[in-house]
Amino acid sequence: MTDDSITLTIDGKPVTAKKGATLLEAAREAGIDIPIICYHEATSPNGLCRICVVDVDGGRVLQPACVAECGADTQVETRNERVLRSRRTILEMLNASVNLEQAPEIQDMMTDYSADDERFPDARRRESEVIDDNPFYVRDYEQCVLCWRCVQVCAEDAQFTFALTLKNRGHETSVATAFDISMTDSPCVFCGQCVGVCPTGALKPKVEWGMEQGWSSEELRQQTRRKRKPLGDSEET
Ligand code: SF4
Ligand code: FES
Repeated sequence: MTDDSITLTIDGKPVTAKKGATLLEAAREAGIDIPIICYHEATSPNGLCRICVVDVDGGRVLQPACVAECGADTQVETRNERVLRSRRTILEMLNASVNLEQAPEIQDMMTDYSADDERFPDARRRESEVIDDNPFYVRDYEQCVLCWRCVQVCAEDAQFTFALTLKNRGHETSVATAFDISMTDSPCVFCGQCVGVCPTGALKPKVEWGMEQGWSSEELRQQTRRKRKPLGDSEET
């Protein structure tokens, strides 16, 4: 052990971690799996979804492993009854309000944690029309779990384009462009990184979406071409 490392116990296993390492990093190093939804290697962890909570020394509140740092000589439990119950409830609440049909990893978690998909039958579900406002990808915020990953890769974590933000509050909160302008009028450069990090079907390449809609190859070609004015011609092609 060096000066910049500490030891702790995770699920009864002694683990050495670098000072400042998160519990998620230390657990992964030790081969212990902790579920994640809002966390992604390409984005800064924000501790938003709480699916990664773990029990540290039986503390009053569970700690989100993606942001909580390892403490020397602490005892961490990643799958005790408290943790399982908390993760199960989070999944049940998510499932009650968001369409998770195209989120296979979250579906697997539902099974793993024996989540009851009828637990909150009267919950208000997120409702939104599919936004098809550009040739490259569509947005279906009925499937959005508000993990913030797309907003982060569009901003300081990768692209520095800042095309995405949040609109509304509470249940109505949704990812959107500033002032809800169309994506083609926004600063978006269509790099596709938001689509790449989305853990659900909320962001989808237009070609994939068009194929699901049963578009012909000609329709796909027409719908996924960027309209532009040729030099010296005022007509769009
Ligand atoms: S659109 Fe996808 S990446 Fe963006 S916040 Fe929603 S679920 Fe997360
Ligand atoms: S993965 Fe840690 S809070 Fe979402």
